[in-house]
Amino acid sequence: MTAGSGRSSVTVTDNRTGKTIEVPIADNAIPATAFLALKAPYAPGEREENDTPYGLRVLDPSFMNTAMIQSAITYIDGNKGFLMHRGYPIEQLAEKSTFLETAYLLIYGELPSAKQYGLWQWEIMHHTFVADDLAKMLKNMRYDAHPMSIFISAFAAMAAFAPEANPALQGRDMYVQNKDVMNKQIVRILGKATTIAAMAYRLRIGRPFNAPRADLSYTENLLYMMDHMAEPNAYRPDPRLAKALDVLFILHADHEMNCSTSTMVHVGSSLVDPYSCVAAASAALYGPLHGGANEAVIRMLTKIGAVENVPAFLEAVKAKKELLFGFGHRVYRETDPRSKIIRQVADMVFDVCGREQLIEVAIALKDAALRDEYFTSRKLYPNVDYWSGLIYKAMGFPLDFYPVLFVVPRVAGYLAHWKQQLDSGKNKISRPRQVYVGPPRRDYVPLDQRPDRAVSSASGLVDLPHYMSKRRLHKI
Ligand code: SDX
Repeated sequence: MTAGSGRSSVTVTDNRTGKTIEVPIADNAIPATAFLALKAPYAPGEREENDTPYGLRVLDPSFMNTAMIQSAITYIDGNKGFLMHRGYPIEQLAEKSTFLETAYLLIYGELPSAKQYGLWQWEIMHHTFVADDLAKMLKNMRYDAHPMSIFISAFAAMAAFAPEANPALQGRDMYVQNKDVMNKQIVRILGKATTIAAMAYRLRIGRPFNAPRADLSYTENLLYMMDHMAEPNAYRPDPRLAKALDVLFILHADHEMNCSTSTMVHVGSSLVDPYSCVAAASAALYGPLHGGANEAVIRMLTKIGAVENVPAFLEAVKAKKELLFGFGHRVYRETDPRSKIIRQVADMVFDVCGREQLIEVAIALKDAALRDEYFTSRKLYPNVDYWSGLIYKAMGFPLDFYPVLFVVPRVAGYLAHWKQQLDSGKNKISRPRQVYVGPPRRDYVPLDQRPDRAVSSASGLVDLPHYMSKRRLHKI
């Protein structure tokens, strides 16, 4: 490799025109807009839609190597399997902090003083009630609605219950200017996230909602709202399970620009209210490639069923017929540090709830994959979702509730990045470019002049199957 000039920049020559530009490097990044300086005439036969004379564009589907913000919240070293929040390693926070303290750190940038922490806890635990009309709305959802659908719906609807927090009504710069209003929504959203989660669970089991309690810790209150029945002196969750859940919440609180947090920032850039942003971010997390993976891991382990079936399953994965859920990560090229800590929490929970039998399959599957060059060559290692589902299963949560146990703590990370973006003073509405590869300009064809084209359901609408009970099949 030739020695560089030592200048922190890249020099790019456009071979179409011979023009050379020097682009400064800052924090090991270059501004994508610098490439707009490289303009060229259309090449012979080149598509007009390439916009070539307007400047060179950067194409990066799925953001494989594009930073969308500068952030001071979380840093991940994927090659070393390292994660820190505001400079504090995740291992120290998991061991010494609480979820609410970590949430404060993420959102405000520093560990709170004793006084700040007391106020923070008090405010959040006194904003856990959900509007009665919203509770009624949730009660009208199907009993078997997926709890993530309920969570997303609740936050989208919650925006309507806080008109004073709606920039569409109060003015677009309200969160840029009024930090008291911003802090009020932050404590409201954190406080209500557990109540909505508990409501989704109570709906599923057909039981009335429990009112939240301000005298319990954040995770104790969640377990109380889920599990209190008719005990005369109010049910008290097992403190060991509340602690285990609190550690899991710390581990799920933030992970820089993952799919759902980048959605929060993207949607927030339009200056819509934070409730609607949380609904959008939660919808992104719902996907099986993201926060839905913990649920998918258990479905996978259940399908494998026994240790002796592991080799056949891994062969199916290598043949691309199956996905090894809970493995792989866009950033980690080593084991996700959170999965190592979760593995320890699992033993704490098993001591209380009994060992989850599927863990034998999980251990055998993990060990076999880590011995297999197919996985190690692709840097596929256990991620945060590989073990968490086993803990939730041991604790008796319904399978489709697992992503809710991911999104509740991740709301802290959503709020931290939303606040950071609006506090930066540099918020601009997110509006990515595209490279158009569609048909060139053409003229409208009247309906009676259009030929019938054979279409498949991928390329057009074909007759759709309709549910017809046998009673309706006869022709009169
Ligand atoms: C989370 O971004 C975050 O930070 C997310 C998260 C957070 O805290 O917010 O950490 C939480 O979402 C963790 C990830 C949970 N998802 C899963 O466990 C689902 C299974 N994992 C994969 O779908 C996948 O690994 C992703 C989605 C996580 C990452 O996918 P990438 O970065 O797009 O990688 P890729 O699809 O380009 O895969 C590279 C290769 C491919 O093989 P080849 O085409 O080179 O032959 O690895 C293969 C993939 O087929 N591969 C897998 C695999 N993951 C990748 N093969 C089998 N099983 C897998 N799990």
